[in-house]
Amino acid sequence: MSSDAIVLLKQEHKELQRLFKEYRAVGPADAAARVDLAQHIVHDLTVHSYLVDEVLYPQVVALLRDPAHEALRGYRDHRAIDRLCEEVSGRGVGDPAFTGLVDSLLSAAAQQMSQEEREWFPQLRAALRRADLQEIGTRLLAVRETAPRHPSGPVSDAPQGAPG
Ligand SMILES: [Fe+2]
Repeated sequence: MSSDAIVLLKQEHKELQRLFKEYRAVGPADAAARVDLAQHIVHDLTVHSYLVDEVLYPQVVALLRDPAHEALRGYRDHRAIDRLCEEVSGRGVGDPAFTGLVDSLLSAAAQQMSQEEREWFPQLRAALRRADLQEIGTRLLAVRETAPRHPSGPVSDAPQGAPG
């Protein structure tokens, strides 16, 4: 299995798109299946955002150093999607906002994924050495095991002395 970071993230995009399609194929009548799929999507998107924002991006910054580098400018963070994940998380299909929120989440995530693949990933591929991308990919695979699956989880480890 390749550990190239871009290959791995594209695989995650593909799996997410598959889930989006599956969600859209389920009719509104099958409420339980819709909620299950929506929560599954929220979990996978939360992990994906975490890996990009907390592992990939900081390593790219460290390797490129120059903040004006095209590959750093091309980055879009995932906060808008994280917020939508929080909104969807924990809502049932009986909630009047559920369907609209899931629709917004799916279209925002799909738009970001295609932008990453069209613009950002090619810039990363051009800016970084193959060995760097392999090393980042290995780290992504390791962190994925412990990455938060719920949108509110700020870090992968148990909270350390959180106030209150
Ligand atoms: Fe992505």
